[in-house]
Amino acid sequence: MSYTDKMLRDDALKGKVIVVTGGGSGLGKAMTKYFLELGANVAITSRDLDKLKNTASELEVATGGTCLPLQCDVRHYDQVENMLQSVLKAFGKVDVLLNNAAGNFISPTERLSANAFDTVIDIVLKGTKNCTLAFGKHWIDTKQKSSTVLNIVTTYAWTGSAYVVPSATAKAGVLAMTRSLAVEWAKYGIRTNAIAPGPFPTKGAWDRLMPGDLAEKFDMAKKVPLQRVGDHQELANLAAYMVSDFSAYINGEVVVIDGGEWLKGAGQFNMLEAIPEELWDQLEMMIKAKKNK
Ligand code: HXC
Ligand code: NAP
Repeated sequence: MSYTDKMLRDDALKGKVIVVTGGGSGLGKAMTKYFLELGANVAITSRDLDKLKNTASELEVATGGTCLPLQCDVRHYDQVENMLQSVLKAFGKVDVLLNNAAGNFISPTERLSANAFDTVIDIVLKGTKNCTLAFGKHWIDTKQKSSTVLNIVTTYAWTGSAYVVPSATAKAGVLAMTRSLAVEWAKYGIRTNAIAPGPFPTKGAWDRLMPGDLAEKFDMAKKVPLQRVGDHQELANLAAYMVSDFSAYINGEVVVIDGGEWLKGAGQFNMLEAIPEELWDQLEMMIKAKKNK
């Protein structure tokens, strides 16, 4: 067995209806593929309907599942409400909302126009709010017994990060929303959780965060204690578990899947990794020699 293998048993998501925002590309597409393989019906949404249609056809052929492409800009509440109605019309119900859509790019903050800052906040924070509010109201009104919101954040939601300040600001808001609603909406049978991925190369993210030769200059794998980037299937495995009934007692959690990346950046003395093994004998002697002096 390996981390690139599929983890859950066949039919683990059979009968579930899942909406994946931003499901036409990158990690959203990878998670959608696995949900379909596990028997779920999945609606994928984003701004680009042609892209969604291509992805849906490709995944239906690959998995034999049913994948519904729906255009919806998450920044607009009316579009989100229409999207929800289309999902209900097609599948009769919805069980899971996966808030995966995002916008991001690197920039010194002082170079950003007010509109540039707003654009990222609107997609990530307002978009997640729009979808969560519309789906939550529906679940509460219809007294659905169990449903799940899964949000995709990042580890800089709690550490912050220079040069992606709108994204860090918005993801921190999403994390606060996750933990708050986990308590408030549990009484309606709604579980709310998040996943915080480390580096999982995708075209969407790498074009905007590692343009040009930045990907070679700043090898993301070197920042990770496990010395590698993530594989899409291992994220899909975790997401499938988090939206399945196997995780029924997990609520308000944010699961980090980053090979230890953020802790390596955080630990004050983590730079001592650069000290060669043989130097430790010498350092130990020096420290002990200072005792009682
Ligand atoms: C400065 C920029 C800019 C840049 C855009 N803007 N790119 N400013 N530097 N590189 C400014 C524009 O000039 C404009 O402001 C405003 O931002 C809106 O730009 P538009 O192009 O009109 O917006 P829109 O078409 O809505 O596109 C949104 C976008 C784009 C976020 C700018 O990149 C996009 O569509 N992204 C979606 C996919 C994505 O971002 N995927 C990566 C997720 S990765 P003015 O003032 O001129 O009007 C991720 C990973 C996190 O989140 C963790 C990784 C480890
Ligand atoms: P991606 O392929 O660019 O995915 C982003 C998706 O969001 C796209 O499909 C895009 O589709 C959609 N989107 C953007 N703006 C939208 C809007 N206004 N309305 C609806 N959909 C919109 O990048 P990714 O790497 O897979 O990112 C997926 C998620 O993982 C994001 O939440 C990101 O923050 C998170 N993440 C990624 C990494 C990583 O290493 N890749 C690390 C940590 C967290 P359209 O352009 O068609 O609208």
